[in-house]
Amino acid sequence: MELKEYPDAEMMMMDLADRLASELRAALAQRDTVSLAVPGGTTPGPVFDVLSGMGLDWDRVHVMLTDERWVPEDSPRSNTRLLRERLLTGRAAAARLVPLYLPGAEPEDRLDEIAEGLAPALPLDVVLLGMGADMHTASLFPGADRLEEALTGSAPVVAMRAPGAPEPRVTLSARVLREAMSLHIVITGREKREALERARHLTPQEAPVAAVLKQAMVHWAES
Ligand code: 6PG
Repeated sequence: MELKEYPDAEMMMMDLADRLASELRAALAQRDTVSLAVPGGTTPGPVFDVLSGMGLDWDRVHVMLTDERWVPEDSPRSNTRLLRERLLTGRAAAARLVPLYLPGAEPEDRLDEIAEGLAPALPLDVVLLGMGADMHTASLFPGADRLEEALTGSAPVVAMRAPGAPEPRVTLSARVLREAMSLHIVITGREKREALERARHLTPQEAPVAAVLKQAMVHWAES
C-alpha cells in the first residue's frame, strides 16, 4: 500500500482527478476502449466535478460504479444518479455507462445481464474506491451475507445484503478490483484514517478493504 497525504481535501480532489485522467490517457494510447470504475457515496463528488471537465477521448471510456444500491435511478440513494449528475456531464458526457443496476425487484433477477454487460470492460484500467469507517469498500461489508464469495470467488459481480445497509447491493468482486491496472482509494477524516491503519493488520473477512490494500494507492486528507 502507498499512502499519499494532502494538506486539504480540495487539493486532494484536484490532484486525484488529474492522476485518474493521466492514467486513462495512458491506457487510451494502448487500446481502443478503456474502463474506469468509481464509487458512490458522499466523498467522490468533487473528484467527479473536476474529472468530468478534463480533455480525453471520453467516447472510448466505459464508466461504471464499483458498487450500487438496488434502488431505481430516481432515488436519492442511487449511485448511478450521482454518476450522471456529477461525472457523466460536460466532456465526460460522451463516456459509456456500464450499469450495475437494472430495473427489477431483486439484484438476482438481473445479475447475469449485469455481468454480461461488464465483461467487455474487464480487466478494468482505472479504479477509484471509497471506504467506510467500518472498513468496507465497494459493497464488501463486514458481516455481509455473500462476503466470502465476493472475496474469494471468481464471479465479477455479487449481490450483497449487509447489516446496516438499508437495501441490497451489487458489488464488483475483490478479484475484479485486484485485477485492475491501477487502484486508488480516497478517504477523508481522522476516523477513516484510523480505520485504514486497523485494516492493515486484519483479515479481509474482518476488514474487507484489506483485500485490495496491497495494490492500492490511498489518498487521504484530514478535511
Ligand atoms: C456506497 C459506496 C461505498 C462508499 C463508502 C464510503 O454506495 O456507499 O460505493 O462503498 O464508497 O461507503 O462512503 P462515503 O464516501 O459516503 O463515506
